[in-house]
Amino acid sequence: MTGTYYKTKESVEEYIRLAKDANGEFLIEKLKQVLPSNSTLLEIGSGPGTDWKILNKSYDITGSDNSTEFLNHLISKNPKGKFLELDAITLKTDKKFDGIYSNKVLHHLNDNELIDTVKRQYEILNSNGIICHSFWKGEGSEVFKGLFVNYHNESTLRKAYLKYFDILSISDYNEFEDNDSLLLIANKK
Ligand SMILES: C[S@@+](CC[C@H](N)C(=O)[O-])C[C@H]1O[C@@H](n2cnc3c(N)ncnc32)[C@H](O)[C@@H]1O
Repeated sequence: MTGTYYKTKESVEEYIRLAKDANGEFLIEKLKQVLPSNSTLLEIGSGPGTDWKILNKSYDITGSDNSTEFLNHLISKNPKGKFLELDAITLKTDKKFDGIYSNKVLHHLNDNELIDTVKRQYEILNSNGIICHSFWKGEGSEVFKGLFVNYHNESTLRKAYLKYFDILSISDYNEFEDNDSLLLIANKK
């Protein structure tokens, strides 16, 4: 349920400028506690590629996005990198991974789309695969800059992931404000 914001050259350039100081280093440290280095890892919604660069130091990383503009940017900045054009909902790939990571991407999916991605993530993970995803914490949903934003709490995340994953942790963290974000880490059942 994304609008055009991540899809045009102008909006992608604006996002890259606005997000230049943001990165998921703290989240990636948490991931490293459960996913051994050199594992194969898929990043969903790599966007500007800031987290991709950090993940690339520890993992056999494949970046992905459903925005051609972001993919063009990722490939031009990282010509030796592996990238796939993937939508988070369908994840149409026959590759399998030891882990799947996303930082502030899956909140763009509505509740049914989240159920679909959880099932696909289960299918494209190797046995004992790990997922690590961040979300905005809160209630309900809204449209921001033309983009659908679905807020989550521990209970909505547990409900969405329970069928296919053993939840290792759901923890609060601060992005812009105290406890405005949630990090989910889980293990394929
Ligand atoms: C907030 S940005 C996060 C970018 C990156 N994770 C970071 O930390 O810099 C969201 C990214 O998710 C991508 N995205 C949004 N909806 C998506 C979907 N359904 N499938 C794949 N990518 C999606 C956007 O194109 C954008 O690159």
